[in-house]
Amino acid sequence: MRVLVTGGAGYIGSHTLLELMAQGHEVCVLDDYSNATPEVLNRVRVLSNGTVADYTGDVRDPEMLDQVMQIFRPDAVIHFAGLKAVGESEAKPLLYYDVNVGGTLALLRAMDRVGCRTIIFSSSATVYGEPVYLPYDEAHPTAPMSVYGQSKLMAENILTSWAKATQGAAAVLLRYFNPVGAHHSSKIGEDPKDIPNNLMPYIAQVAVGKRPALSVFGDDYDTPDGTGLRDYIHVVDLARAHVAALDYATKTPGARPFNIGTGQSYSVRDMVAAFESACGQKIATIQAERRAGDIAAMQADASRAAAELGWRAEHGLNDMAASTWAWQSANPNGYDPQK
Ligand code: NAD
Ligand code: UFG
Repeated sequence: MRVLVTGGAGYIGSHTLLELMAQGHEVCVLDDYSNATPEVLNRVRVLSNGTVADYTGDVRDPEMLDQVMQIFRPDAVIHFAGLKAVGESEAKPLLYYDVNVGGTLALLRAMDRVGCRTIIFSSSATVYGEPVYLPYDEAHPTAPMSVYGQSKLMAENILTSWAKATQGAAAVLLRYFNPVGAHHSSKIGEDPKDIPNNLMPYIAQVAVGKRPALSVFGDDYDTPDGTGLRDYIHVVDLARAHVAALDYATKTPGARPFNIGTGQSYSVRDMVAAFESACGQKIATIQAERRAGDIAAMQADASRAAAELGWRAEHGLNDMAASTWAWQSANPNGYDPQK
């Protein structure tokens, strides 16, 4: 299939490009490089020995979208382009709604103009909010606790209405849990622009000496060791879920959400210990207050993805830590040697 990948130069998008090409799909990227660098696509080209068409532009720009749609004529779109920092979303709500909701609307309108009816959307487990029960299944009530989460839920609702109203349309809503890890080549991985917001990239930067210590946010949660529990998912498994979702979407019209996690959860201390084994050194930690807006625990019931997409996670915690360390130690400054 011909697959347009918005945000394809980003962390999850770049890994997904490789999995798509490995399965014989043709890819084209639209990215504005607000949180990525074109070097990512050079590395993807070398690793895949394949062709990656790319356009630099904003997913909210209808003229840009028309140009890409008319030249590339996609059979399907995977929509990664968006903003993802929870804290920033509270400070800049209009920007987050504009990019995450407005971007999705602009994309669907452009797809309508060329009759493209298949989309895979990057949603998040954060749409569930405070757990009523765990593990979350897809029927769990949705009550996002941040502007970011609201923007993802709004986009899901728009996609659902569009799929209902559009003959033959399919929208697969992938609710990612916590993506971590890197490609086994160590050539692509997560490269946060500023101070990392997320646990794994922060630990990795402590390990290479870029940060003095990890702040452990809270040790008084109602969890076995008092620190937060999350369902971490290896980014290569997550990338493969998109390929499975594409196959599903071509056979199944309508909109459907899927949890993409492992069904297991680990604490902050488990993650630190796994990383210490992977890198063979101690990770300095400082006990800190709880981070505002964090919940104690989350975990996926990923059985719908297994039953309907034929997908399940294959990489375990050791792979997640080892591949993060391999990427970070081979690229201590990420994609930018000057950083
Ligand atoms: P990322 O920032 O690495 O990738 C997003 C890409 O989109 C970047 O390359 C960025 O330059 C591009 N982009 C941003 N705004 C754009 C715009 N207006 N027009 C065109 N391109 C634009 O993030 P990621 O971790 O790869 O996440 C991809 C998607 O998955 C996002 O939609 C994110 O909200 C969602 N998601 C991520 C996580 C996570 O923890 N990483 C969890 C759940 C959901
Ligand atoms: N944590 C620390 N120290 C840090 C960073 C994180 O102790 O420096 C802890 C957090 O308190 C939490 C756990 O590590 O208990 C994981 O935190 P992350 O920031 O890595 O991930 P979150 O679960 O908070 O959020 C992530 C994404 C969101 C997404 C959510 C659910 O950042 O975008 O998963 O998909 F919405």
